[in-house]
Amino acid sequence: MAKKLATEAYKGTRDFYPKDMAIQRYIFDTWAKTAESFGFERYDASILEPSDLYKSKGAENEEMVNEQTYTFIDRGDREVTLRPEMTPTVARMIAARRRDLNFPVRWYSIPNLFRYERPQRGRLREHWQLNCDMFGIDDIAADVEIISLAYNVLKEFGAEDEDFEIRINSRAWLTEKLKSYDLDENQMKHMIQLIDKKDKIKDFEKESEIITGQKIDFEITEAPKERSIKSIIDALNLIGITNIKFSPTIVRGFNYYTGTVFEIFDTNPKNNRSLIGGGRYDNLTELFGGDAVTGIGFGMGDVTMRDFLETHKLLPKDLHVTAPRLSILPMGKDLNIACEKIAHTFRTTGVTVSVDLSDKKIGKKISSADDAGVQYVLVVGEDELSSQNFTLKELATKEETAGQLDDLIKHLA
Ligand code: HAM
Repeated sequence: MAKKLATEAYKGTRDFYPKDMAIQRYIFDTWAKTAESFGFERYDASILEPSDLYKSKGAENEEMVNEQTYTFIDRGDREVTLRPEMTPTVARMIAARRRDLNFPVRWYSIPNLFRYERPQRGRLREHWQLNCDMFGIDDIAADVEIISLAYNVLKEFGAEDEDFEIRINSRAWLTEKLKSYDLDENQMKHMIQLIDKKDKIKDFEKESEIITGQKIDFEITEAPKERSIKSIIDALNLIGITNIKFSPTIVRGFNYYTGTVFEIFDTNPKNNRSLIGGGRYDNLTELFGGDAVTGIGFGMGDVTMRDFLETHKLLPKDLHVTAPRLSILPMGKDLNIACEKIAHTFRTTGVTVSVDLSDKKIGKKISSADDAGVQYVLVVGEDELSSQNFTLKELATKEETAGQLDDLIKHLA
């Protein structure tokens, strides 16, 4: 006998059973609603991109490109990658329409992304990510708007200010600071990567000494606050957003960031992964030729979002799988087709309807409709079919309404 196939999903990916899907839909709907409340327009693109998009200099994140991408050669000998993030894609799309777009552009999308990571809490090989980006505005008002959008998404889910913390830094400031140690470009790049992993590294000081040959001091959180960062924090405070702090070790792993960088963390230590990461990138669109268009945005993942909502008990209790409003219950198998016809009639009027085609007894059919969250049932036997007189029952109230199909359709309208 052939070896049995495994029923588990591929390592690091998830199956979304209807209950998980109900949660995911709630998360996506809240994301979309909040982004649209800020006037962001939705876009999307293919999951497949030419691998070059991630190899070009500005977009390069060595760890991601060399170790974390799913890359293959297609039948036409082209190197293709499953997108690990959305930023290079959106930069490509903006560059392609640079002349026609009316800047500033505010765009959002909810892409599925793939990274070959070691699966662990908050980190999988597949995730969905809300991406919100603004293009064509380098005023700090855009930084303020993007951060307040990220903040508002969490508030929209019912989070309190003390449930999360926004940490902000400036790549420009950090580069200046590292320059003051007289580092060359290579040392600089390695230092930025090291600082990005600071919390995971046992002996940061020793490692930084190996790279630079000197002592680098990153403990000073009250560093002369970089001017633009201070203005951004002040402006956010003015709006009422105060759970934000300057954090000199937030650098973000991507090489394309040039200005403000920020991350949002769950204050519950159980979820020590960042919920949101983003920043300003001035030169990414330059990769496609022509003048650069500045961009600022963030990504917020669904894995950490769900962990956050579960930890802080923020998932609505009445989230259930989408149930039809009406279920038609044939008294016997020979009535199934007649019931499909009745269901069709109801559906043309906009009512959502299922037909219970099982062999269960009618009592069982009623209770399983009830368990599924169906609102009304219509039991159909020979008598109902010959008299064309049906009885609609509302499960919650046990209220019954009798009549022709037209009467019942009116009742549900
Ligand atoms: P990122 O920091 O790599 O940034 O990801 C943003 C968020 O996506 C993370 O904070 C986390 O919630 C989630 N995430 C990332 N990787 C995984 C994973 N393997 N499993 C589960 N969740 C994950 C970016 O991707 C930037 N492109 C964001 C951006 C948009 N910057 C400007 N615009």
